[in-house]
Amino acid sequence: MFKCEIYQQRRQKLIEQMDEGLVLFLGNTDSPFNSSDNCYRFRQDSSFLYFCGLDQPGLAVLLDVETGREMLFGRQQTLEDTIWCGPSPGLQSQAERVGIAESASFAWLSEQLKAAIKGGRTIHYLPSCRADKRMQLADLCGLNHAAIEKNISQTLIGAVVNLRSVKAEEEIRELDAAADLGCQLHTAAMRMARPGVYEWQIAGELEALAARAGNMLSFPPIVTIHGEILHNHQRDHQLKEGALLLVDCGVESGLHYASDHTRTVPVSGQFSAQQRGIYSIVLACLERARALIRPGTTYLEVHLDVCRILVEGLQALGLMQGDAGQAVAAGAHALFMPHGLGHMLGLDVHDMEELGEDAVGYDEHVQRSDQFGTSRLRLGRKLQEGFVLTVEPGIYFIPQLIEQWKSHGQYSDFINYSELERYLDFGGIRLEDDVLVTPEGNRLLGQPIPFRPDELETQLAREKIIERVS
Ligand code: GLY
Ligand code: MN
Ligand code: MN
Repeated sequence: MFKCEIYQQRRQKLIEQMDEGLVLFLGNTDSPFNSSDNCYRFRQDSSFLYFCGLDQPGLAVLLDVETGREMLFGRQQTLEDTIWCGPSPGLQSQAERVGIAESASFAWLSEQLKAAIKGGRTIHYLPSCRADKRMQLADLCGLNHAAIEKNISQTLIGAVVNLRSVKAEEEIRELDAAADLGCQLHTAAMRMARPGVYEWQIAGELEALAARAGNMLSFPPIVTIHGEILHNHQRDHQLKEGALLLVDCGVESGLHYASDHTRTVPVSGQFSAQQRGIYSIVLACLERARALIRPGTTYLEVHLDVCRILVEGLQALGLMQGDAGQAVAAGAHALFMPHGLGHMLGLDVHDMEELGEDAVGYDEHVQRSDQFGTSRLRLGRKLQEGFVLTVEPGIYFIPQLIEQWKSHGQYSDFINYSELERYLDFGGIRLEDDVLVTPEGNRLLGQPIPFRPDELETQLAREKIIERVS
C-alpha cells in the first residue's frame, strides 16, 4: 500500500469535484470457479484500490460529500473464518490503515443507502463489468437492475477519470517497476521462441514468472504465430521455422499497476526479407509516434499521422498506392491496421475502461470516429503531462478481411490487391511500448526491450545460447 495520506488526499480531491450526495465505492468479492471455496486469484476493483487502498475482498467505502464523513463497510471476522482462513485485522483497524475513521457492517450500509434514496439524496457509484457487483448494488440500494444501470453517476465517472488519468510520482514508480518486470517476461519469451516449442509453453512461463515475482499478469497474454488475429487467445500451435511469434503480454507491479508490451520475433532467429520489410514499417510507426507524443497533441492526431507513415511504407513495398494522406482520410489503411494506436495504462491495462471507453479516451473536443479502424482508437483526446499510454502500431494480413474488401473492390485506388496475394499467409506484426507524457515529450517506462531488427536478432541468438548452456 502507499502511505495513508495518499489515499486521504485522493479522496479529498475527489470530494472537491463533487457537489452533493454520497459516493459509494464497492470493492470486489472473491470469484469462485466451481465452488465458493475455490476462487480465482482475487483482484481488487481498481477505483477501490486507487481511493481506498485495501486489497481484500468484500469491502465498501461510503463518502458523504456534504459532511465529509467516511466509512468502511465489511464483515467482522468470525471464529469460523479464523479457523479456516487464519486471523485477519479487524474492520476498524483496516479502516484506520487508510485514514477512514469509522467502520460498520453491510447491513448498516444498506440501511443508510435506502434511507438516503428515500430522502432524495444522490448515491454516486461507478459502473462495473462484474455481474455479481451489479446484483450486490441492487440489493444494497433496494433497486432493480435497470434502475441501477440508469443511475450510474456520470459526475463520479468524470471526477475519477480526471484524477486517475494523471499519474503521480508514486504511481510512475510502480508503472516503471511493472514495465521492468514486463521486460524480463519478454526476454524469457524470446529465449523460448524456437522451433518445436508450443505457444502454451511460453504463455505458461510468462504466468510463472509473474507469479514467482508475487504478482499477476495484467491480462491474459497473447502468444501466437497468428498475430493477424488481434486478440488471439488460442495457444495450441507449435512454433516452426519461418514463422513470426507475436507476444503481447503485461504484468502488474506489487500494487497492481500494469505494463503492456508487444514484441514480434522470427522463430528462426532471423527475419526473412519480406518480414523485415513489414517489420521496418511498424518500427517507423512506433518511432514516429514517440516523436509526436507530447502535452497538447491529441492522440487522434498522433494515430492518424502514424497511419500515414504506415501507408507510405506499404507504398514503398508496392502494397498501396495513391496519395497517402487521402488514403488515411478515406480509411484504406485500416485493412492493415484495424485498431487504434494505443490506450491509457494504469491500475488497469486498458486504464479505467470499465468506466466507459469514451469517458476515458474522448471529451467534448475530440469525438470518436465512426470509420472502420479509427473507430477502435481507445484514446483520442489531448495528451497531458502525467498521462501514461501505450504505443502499439501493427500491420496485419487478415485473409478474410482482404477477401471481403477485394471482392467489393473497396479502396482499389489505394490498395494493390494483386501484390497482396504474396502476403496472405504472412500473419501480423505488432510492437508495443509504454510511455509517460513528460513536459518535453515522453519517456519510455521501464528497461527498453530490444525492438530494432538487428538488435532483436542479436538478442535472440544470445538468448538461445543462454538456453543451451542453462
Ligand atoms: N492486449 C491488448 C492490448 O495491447 O491493448
Ligand atoms: Mn498489449
Ligand atoms: Mn495495449
